[in-house]
Amino acid sequence: MIFGAILAGGTGTRMNLTTMPKQFLPLGDKPILIHTIARYLKCEKIDAVIVGVHADWVEYTNGLLEQYLPGAKNRVKVITGGTDRTDTMLRLLNAIEQTYGASNEHIVLTHDGVRPFFTQRMLEENIAAVYEYGAVNTVSPAIDTIVVSEDGKTISSVPNRATMFLGQCPQTFRVSQLKAVYNSLTEEERKTLTEATKIYTMRGLPVYLVQGAASNIKITTPADYTMAQAIAEDFED
Ligand code: CTP
Repeated sequence: MIFGAILAGGTGTRMNLTTMPKQFLPLGDKPILIHTIARYLKCEKIDAVIVGVHADWVEYTNGLLEQYLPGAKNRVKVITGGTDRTDTMLRLLNAIEQTYGASNEHIVLTHDGVRPFFTQRMLEENIAAVYEYGAVNTVSPAIDTIVVSEDGKTISSVPNRATMFLGQCPQTFRVSQLKAVYNSLTEEERKTLTEATKIYTMRGLPVYLVQGAASNIKITTPADYTMAQAIAEDFED
């Protein structure tokens, strides 16, 4: 089976909101998180979508689903997220196996709830590539020159921009392999290694690149939210 796993368990501290986590802010006619979930549901290859939100927001999220996506009840499940992004990810993977059983054939497209501007083309290409390569990352070519600074004060090196990409979502994996990779981490590694694709790379496992888009932004700060409102005005998928 093919699953969408939506990470939405954060509280959005960098957005400086007191009322609600940023994934519930409105974007056009519906909340950001509902855009993300609806775009996953539009892809018929995806059998079910599991969403991880903070414990205080599970009921609220279920209410939003009733309001905005009433026909999707059988394809969406909301669970309690974890203390950090990796913890939420592991809870989503466990929920998939608890609900649908463990299988080496299960595929998961992982996605940040606050990244609503991905496309069906990206989902389709992620699904096609994961069967061949085992892991996939959606990326966008670096537009600015990337400079490396080890001390944060002076430049250590300037890598060739043609080889630099910005990591986006979806990121797609085989559920069983992703769990095994996380389980292989030591307690120390677990604290610093938050990026699944980095763990794959460190273990010598291939991660295939799918082309993302500059508009596929993650809404992190108030400036991103302003930009997202502009993108939403004429975004087509
Ligand atoms: N996330 C999650 N569970 C957590 C923390 C984060 O599922 N315990 C999710 C967020 O909801 C978000 C994604 O991971 O969709 C990317 O994280 P980020 O943009 O950093 O979100 P927040 O943690 O909410 O924001 P901040 O770091 O500003 O507090």
